[in-house]
Amino acid sequence: MLLIFVTLLSICIKALIIYSVQIWHSNMPHNKIADRKGHQGWMKREGQHFLFPGGGTMFPDGAEQYIEKLSQYIPIKGGALRTALDMGCGVASFGGYLLAQNILAMSFAPRDSHKSQIQFALERGIPAFVAMLGTRRLPFPAFGFDLVHCSRCLIPFTAYNATYFLEVDRLLRPGGYLVISGPPVRWPKQEKEWSDLQAVAKTLCYEQITVDGNTAIWKKPAGDSCLPNQNEFGLELCDDSGDLSQAWYFKLKKCVSSTSSIKGDYAIGTIPKWPMRLTAAPLRSTLLKTGVDVYEADTKQWARRVAHYKNSLNIKLGTPSIRNIMDMNALYGGFAAALKSDPVWVMNVVPAQKPPTLDAIFDRGLIGVYHDWCEPFSTYPRTYDLIHVVSIESLIKDPASGKTRCNIVDLMVEIDRILRPEGTIVVRDAPEVIDKVARIAHSVRWKPTIYDKEPDSHNSEKILVLTKTFWKL
Ligand SMILES: C[S@@+](CC[C@H](N)C(=O)[O-])C[C@H]1O[C@@H](n2cnc3c(N)ncnc32)[C@H](O)[C@@H]1O
Repeated sequence: MLLIFVTLLSICIKALIIYSVQIWHSNMPHNKIADRKGHQGWMKREGQHFLFPGGGTMFPDGAEQYIEKLSQYIPIKGGALRTALDMGCGVASFGGYLLAQNILAMSFAPRDSHKSQIQFALERGIPAFVAMLGTRRLPFPAFGFDLVHCSRCLIPFTAYNATYFLEVDRLLRPGGYLVISGPPVRWPKQEKEWSDLQAVAKTLCYEQITVDGNTAIWKKPAGDSCLPNQNEFGLELCDDSGDLSQAWYFKLKKCVSSTSSIKGDYAIGTIPKWPMRLTAAPLRSTLLKTGVDVYEADTKQWARRVAHYKNSLNIKLGTPSIRNIMDMNALYGGFAAALKSDPVWVMNVVPAQKPPTLDAIFDRGLIGVYHDWCEPFSTYPRTYDLIHVVSIESLIKDPASGKTRCNIVDLMVEIDRILRPEGTIVVRDAPEVIDKVARIAHSVRWKPTIYDKEPDSHNSEKILVLTKTFWKL
């Protein structure tokens, strides 16, 4: 037992990530994917490293060429598309290579026979998390992704099911693109599934852009779906469109999400191109209630705060030590937006109990998920380099009653699990909360330092910077 523990600790700190290309074998000594998928270019072992040649089951010659092929049909270059979803991503080479085009992909897959695929993706520094398309909505807002991709992501479209298509439709931005490659697209013995898939796409008025080999590409209508009253699948518009963005413990519904229920100009072609959309105030309904002024002030405030983190608190943002970042209480994604020029990506988490602002985050061209911080986060151990949290106590309180729903020590142990050894945690909160967290920090072997807030900040917050130590028994 002791030996396993010491071995685990000794392998986990080799933090040098040569982004997307190679990782230390000893950080994740799991050879199964390399053995089974090496011939498809997923990854291979070479001495002390795993190398990632950039291939995949549907693109054994490399994601780069595959993306080049897609760009004949889809405006991959030029900023019209920014947020992408790669369903059933393997080790996330597709998402990794999209980054070169300034497209930020959220890649996901379950822990199945492909084992720790998402851990490999994160070790490479590619945005990813553990999930599967099953019985519940994925934890994303409606109409957030400009591009949805599924290459041989097996279950969803092989065992063809209209409900899965409707979930993809909920997630896809009006005017966005859907790419499915592999079965059932022109696949032997899957003629029925292929024909059904085309028929449901047609029922929702998706325009088939091309079928090139085994890759099919559709464009979702920029306006509302043209769903007729009668259709062969018995599909109807969802009756309560108000809950379209509810995606935490929400059962999949077999109905069509209507765009008319959400105000604002957010379709592809209307929303500003990247990078302008990062700073243009998103016009979704949730934000309009708050007001554009508040949003602009938030953006400016985060630029000042991040400058303070870098210049006065000596946090290594902007250096190769920090790549995978999580903002546990992201609101409008202001913290992530202020890091735009740094070689990092940010998982913006909007707590499921708070106002659902994730749609605005996606409209800005950033990515994230809904999550309840009284539960474990869907990732592997040691996968984030920096974790940022504003109002840590609010994450575990019930907003209506103000009562605590779970223990702050459990939350800190979960943060400790997610964080890479020698990683950093930044907590902003009231002085009494900061003192409490700093006291508990010693028990989880984090080194705490308390700082004053930025000089021009008006509230009474303090900033606690914690370092997870690298320790052995
Ligand atoms: C053959 S691999 C393809 C991986 C990658 N897309 C590629 O082309 O290299 C199938 C992928 O689909 C994932 N998968 C299977 N069922 C899934 C589901 N229900 N939801 C999401 N992903 C799923 C697997 O875990 C795996 O990542």
